[in-house]
Amino acid sequence: MKKKVIFSGIQPTGNLHIGNYLGAVKNWVALQNSGEYDCYFAVVDYHSLTGDMKPQDRHDQIVRTAVELIAAGIDPEKSTLFIQSQVSAHAELAWIFNCITPMAELERMTQFKDKSARQEKNINVGLFTYPSLMSADILLYHGTHIPVGEDQIQHVELTRSTARWFNNKYGDYFTEPELMITETPRIKSLLEPIKKMSKSLGAGHVIELADSPEIIEKKLKKAVTASEGDASAPGVDNLLLLMKHFATEDQFALYTKAVADGTVRYGDLKSDLAEALANKFSSFREKREALLSNHDVIAEQLFAGAERAQATAQKTMDVVKEMIGLR
Ligand code: AMP
Ligand code: TRP
Repeated sequence: MKKKVIFSGIQPTGNLHIGNYLGAVKNWVALQNSGEYDCYFAVVDYHSLTGDMKPQDRHDQIVRTAVELIAAGIDPEKSTLFIQSQVSAHAELAWIFNCITPMAELERMTQFKDKSARQEKNINVGLFTYPSLMSADILLYHGTHIPVGEDQIQHVELTRSTARWFNNKYGDYFTEPELMITETPRIKSLLEPIKKMSKSLGAGHVIELADSPEIIEKKLKKAVTASEGDASAPGVDNLLLLMKHFATEDQFALYTKAVADGTVRYGDLKSDLAEALANKFSSFREKREALLSNHDVIAEQLFAGAERAQATAQKTMDVVKEMIGLR
């Protein structure tokens, strides 16, 4: 039987938040621990160049994102955890993919449209060809299963197309990867619950895994719930979803019923949820602090991860270069 390979990535654009956690990282840890897959997880720093960030902030965040993945349960002994830019084949294969990808296909990407609207003054070519780099990330390792949140579905579908375009043009080589979506592929913002929870909306919109109990409480206090006469209340649905995943079954049942009855006291719901979240991530916060003061060990682990990734990536590049006539 063919080996099952997990590949996923995360941009070092902010600390991990509970949207990343429920949509992706929690699943990554479970897949890793199942022992059924060969797992690759990358901090995709090349991808982050498509957005605005100061070099020093980017540098600090790359390390912090890797540390947070480890604190959340990614084990560098079990998984290949690495920094994308330490394996230059990602950029090389992305270029090759750029040359087989029709412009029109990239023009359809909703993330390109959304991000162009959000960063009007920096609509760079990288933002446009971002999916080619993502296809390269996945196909370099022959990823077969790609665990991501809902916002990445279109990109994984494009990766499947990229594999087909390559195979049609140069011969059968890449396997089309399959999507793996969690039960909670889209967690909403606390303040604008019709949008997905995202760091780019502002700190008050997200709960970071590293947030202190006091900050969690403060942010939840401001979370949007429902006003009288609202036909639907996405903010309440989102809070209940968080209750389902972080509070006890009894608490979840109690508040679901109270919301349905109209007897709910949102202040109580929020403080119970805040307490559950603070408890859930207390060992994460401790591990994170300990790892952040251990830079050398982390750097070594990431370097070892990149070496392992590099070995696989190199084999793929050798075959690709030969197939397309560069060797
Ligand atoms: P990013 O932080 O954008 O690099 O995303 C890393 C992973 O987290 C991707 O698989 C995303 O799909 C997932 N993700 C990001 N935000 C959310 C969210 N609000 N709900 C669910 N999944 C998310
Ligand atoms: N584009 C993804 C995001 O913004 C991150 C990513 C880059 C990724 N390369 C990947 C995810 C490969 C899965 C597989 O969230």
